Amino acid sequence: MPTVYIKTFGCQMNVHDSEKISGIFSESGYGQTESVKDADVIVLNTCSVRQKAEQKVYSDLGRLRLIKQKNPALKIAVAGCIAQQIGSSLFKKFPYVDFVFGPGNIDKLEEWINGRSKSTPADSERILTRGQVTALGDNPGYSAKTLPLKREGRVKAWVSIMHGCDNFCSYCVVPYTRGRERSRTSRDICSEVQDIAGQGFKEITLLGQNVNSYGRKQEEKTDFPDLLKVIHEVPGIERIRFVTSHPRDLSEKLIDCIRDLHKICEHIHLPIQAGSDRILNLMNRRYTYQQYKEKIGMLRTAIPDIAITTDIIAGFPGETDEDFNYTINALKEIEFDGIFAFKYSERPDTKALNLPEHVDEDIKAQRLSQVLELQASITYNKNKALEGKAVEILVEGVSETDKHRLTGRTRTNKIVNFPGDPKNIRSSSSIRLSSSQANRSKRKNSLIGRLIYVKILEAKQHSLYGELV
Ligand code: 5AD
Ligand code: SF4
Repeated sequence: MPTVYIKTFGCQMNVHDSEKISGIFSESGYGQTESVKDADVIVLNTCSVRQKAEQKVYSDLGRLRLIKQKNPALKIAVAGCIAQQIGSSLFKKFPYVDFVFGPGNIDKLEEWINGRSKSTPADSERILTRGQVTALGDNPGYSAKTLPLKREGRVKAWVSIMHGCDNFCSYCVVPYTRGRERSRTSRDICSEVQDIAGQGFKEITLLGQNVNSYGRKQEEKTDFPDLLKVIHEVPGIERIRFVTSHPRDLSEKLIDCIRDLHKICEHIHLPIQAGSDRILNLMNRRYTYQQYKEKIGMLRTAIPDIAITTDIIAGFPGETDEDFNYTINALKEIEFDGIFAFKYSERPDTKALNLPEHVDEDIKAQRLSQVLELQASITYNKNKALEGKAVEILVEGVSETDKHRLTGRTRTNKIVNFPGDPKNIRSSSSIRLSSSQANRSKRKNSLIGRLIYVKILEAKQHSLYGELV
């Protein structure tokens, strides 16, 4: 059986795209390998949101040259945002690359693997005979397609509800690489969720660059809260999450949904990016700090224990010490549960590239560490406040660092590790399970995939440690 090695860079969206890539290979008769040397095909699913991720891809591609020299039959495909951005000129820099396809053309992979016709004869004659190919153009039908996914794990699943972005934040390359915003129909999404539930998954995360504008350009008048209500009815799914929300489009209707629909977890990722109105304006974010804070107030009034996480960019062009202090103030004032923080990174095609007064690298680095240091203590204190409390977690599997521990997440998306055996429910009578879970537990004696209660014994910086209640 021929094998494929897939390496993913970047965000959840890309990880999910790799599940689609993996599914197509699997349907075409390929096994997956973890070894670059054994692979018949190597796919790099790339990210270009920041320069660092891009550089990693180039250094990987450099190393692949030697592997291809030793094994000329090897086929190399470059997928994702860098593929879309650089296009066929990737062949000039890396002439041993065979296929370049963008995030909106994953469905074309099947044609590439199998040749034009699906009935191409033997495996050995497939793809090996083809020249350099690109699939980068407009592909309007793509978002309507449901590809044969091969999902990672068996507890949590991702579901794309839309592709692309129309926001054009001035630093961001995504609208150029992933194209204009397109929403999938609620029918397609629901049938995928039903499928996922049928396979035994318990949690779904709805994915989109800006989920709050779901359906805006559709004929069908279903907005994001309407979609959540429909998905909430799917039996078997016990938790629903979504990323990412744009603060400007976060509506009262959505807040009411999070409050009223019990399957929707009390966590929202709401990127603020900066605390200075001047910088927010230059970023084209279309909200002020005050407006952002009002949304936080509305969320916390409606759902008092909601966890709020955010993204921060340090050192955006023109950011003065005073502007940066507004970001520091925002972190102190809002007290996020967690943040992702980045140094501003110059991206091709973006408006910010041409703004004056780019900030020195060392100042960016200094500001980034100041942000991270401040947030570390806020996050730790938030975790500490959970000590002694019993929290519901969905058990996801065995801890990566200790095979005698299981790991899961709270509804607020915090990681919890606790001693446990993946095969057996210890003192199962003391675990609070729902009645449907209790029935299933008779059939399958494993904690993985279950909602259980854990008492938090110790808070750590990035996780919590507890014991079964
Ligand atoms: N530089 C730094 N961070 C960026 N992000 C997006 N583009 C850039 C860039 N050019 C960050 C934003 C966004 C997250 C996904 O990545 O904070 O919310
Ligand atoms: Fe990029 Fe802004 Fe769209 Fe997010 S909302 S993907 S940051 S352009």
